[in-house]
Amino acid sequence: MAHWQRTRSCGELRAEDAGRQVTLNGWVHSVRSHGDLVFVDLRDRTGIVQLRADAASSPDVLEALAAVKSEFVLSVTGEVQMRAPGMANPKLGTGEIEIHVSEVRILNPCRQPLPFQLNDESQMSLVNEELRLRYRYLDLRRPRMQEILRLRHRVVASMRRFLDSRGFIEVETPIFTRSTPEGARDYLVPYRLSPGLFYALPQSPQQYKQLLMVAGVERYYQIARCFRDEAQRADRQPEFTQLDLEMSFVTQEDVLQLTEDMTIAVLRECSNKRLGSVPFARLTYDDAMLRYGTDKPDLRYGLEIADISEAMRGTSFGVFSDVLASGGVIRCVRYPGGSRLSRRETDDLARLAKEWGARGLAHLAIEDSDGSGHGLTLRGPIAKFISETERERILSAAKAEAGDLLLIVADAADVAATVLGRLRQEIARRLNLAPSDVLHFCWITDFPLVQWNAEENRWDAEHHPFTMPHEDDLPYLDTDPARVRAQCYDIVCNGVEWGSGSIRICRADIQAKVFALLGLSEEVQRERFGHMLDAFAYGAPPHGGVAPGIDRLIMLMTDTENIREVMAFPKIGGGTDPLMGAPSTVDEAQLRELGLRVVSS
Ligand code: AMO
Ligand code: AMP
Repeated sequence: MAHWQRTRSCGELRAEDAGRQVTLNGWVHSVRSHGDLVFVDLRDRTGIVQLRADAASSPDVLEALAAVKSEFVLSVTGEVQMRAPGMANPKLGTGEIEIHVSEVRILNPCRQPLPFQLNDESQMSLVNEELRLRYRYLDLRRPRMQEILRLRHRVVASMRRFLDSRGFIEVETPIFTRSTPEGARDYLVPYRLSPGLFYALPQSPQQYKQLLMVAGVERYYQIARCFRDEAQRADRQPEFTQLDLEMSFVTQEDVLQLTEDMTIAVLRECSNKRLGSVPFARLTYDDAMLRYGTDKPDLRYGLEIADISEAMRGTSFGVFSDVLASGGVIRCVRYPGGSRLSRRETDDLARLAKEWGARGLAHLAIEDSDGSGHGLTLRGPIAKFISETERERILSAAKAEAGDLLLIVADAADVAATVLGRLRQEIARRLNLAPSDVLHFCWITDFPLVQWNAEENRWDAEHHPFTMPHEDDLPYLDTDPARVRAQCYDIVCNGVEWGSGSIRICRADIQAKVFALLGLSEEVQRERFGHMLDAFAYGAPPHGGVAPGIDRLIMLMTDTENIREVMAFPKIGGGTDPLMGAPSTVDEAQLRELGLRVVSS
């Protein structure tokens, strides 16, 4: 071991180490110079420890330490000592001790001014994100970012351990492949040997994992990089990572159970958060839309949407009766304590509702007029249209209490669902109803197999064309496709879609029917999926799987709003990397070799 190399790590030193000689390596986190006394916080990946030198006992060391600057790389030797009484820092694991330094070696200075300070988390939100990403190697030195990287590693390691214990094997699948549609644009890579041909980067390993089932692997997983050229959002990146898995000879129930067991094992190992419900809640798609207005409900709070269409069947309020007559619905959500809202505040909610697509938003304040808790009354512009029977039915359907404000939307079912679902979230946000220390997982099942695409005048697969319909619904494939439910499921946590999966079609006759329903001609089927159809002709086992997003799980575990925070080197803007300067132009010669010419638009 070289004389400058560490004997201990900064973050691990404790009171028990007092009296020990140690050599530490790390970066200067901060320097606090008080003339004849200097403190330096030294940081390595394990944490921060305070170094100390004073003029009385070691003037040379004092001088050397006082001269170092933020982010210098040091080796120091010294003795661990208890801090003076009253000087302990309870926020630091090493807060009871400090190092009385006897030797300082500068392993490397930091020769450039820092683009931003690494030692003040409270200022980080003010730092331009592009700047942080351009200097990501500095950004990642921050203890918060180190913690995220380490958590991510621990989560993936834990998943691997769990899946290994259940007999899964990890198989790598190609990155240079052909289009695997998951609904986004492909990233293409030109093929040099035959200009005009392109590889596509996989949007997911979907087809390979199914081929692995045909290959008899039975239990496959992969920490898989996926590539999708789609609009970026706070929880979407052009390249991201899935825990992709697939199993043979299983039913939907087996996949859900396995995924649930794994999720619980991983979170118990890697997180202090509580699980909202064990076993995970399960909701059908229809139920989720009805009660929460979304297929990714946040179940950390109640505020269920109530359908009051029946209660209002004979209403004298023209707007509502018109909507009911045209096949629409009337639904409402409770705003606890909302009866106190001012006119301006209710107008503001109505404006939001309209922005989200509602024609209007009616409201009813629930009041306990005589203070008895019985005989609740309604107040608001439409109260006069509501009969006594209607009132009782509304109150009971909405489980309304004195002080609530009922927000009511009358519209087509999908509009009412979307608007009330968003209002429900907005109310929860305002009332701070979602506890941040809870991860509330649920399964959404029984998605429709297909969705009508009015623009293109055709049925589109809700998931992908290999999704198996419910056996019971097979007859409707011909007669009423909208009614066919799929053996398809999403796992949702705190209002975020974490993963999705399905049981796949392994019977040629059903596959042919579904392709026909999706309007894929035999020619197109052969062209796009010929390799899959061929493979399935050689004895495909019944199989299914799921793919939860790793990035999104880490976001949920760390309460991060932005997916870029949980990736080491994310893209910004339209998918650019300011650190590497990617994408970039290439040499004319490279283009020529690939048979490509850039046509400026
Ligand atoms: P799906 O397309 O629903 O399913 O993706 C599964 C999960 O991957 C994550 N995810 C993303 N994460 C970050 N950025 C993105 N752009 C992004 N897109 C998706 C989400 C999502 O829930 N092959 C199927 C799975 C299967 O059927 O087994 C698939 O990819 O967490
Ligand atoms: P109007 O008769 O249009 O003045 O509307 C009376 C009340 O009903 C107002 O509070 C409107 O916002 C509300 N309203 C109008 N259309 C709808 C609708 N489709 N759903 C719920 N409330 C509505």
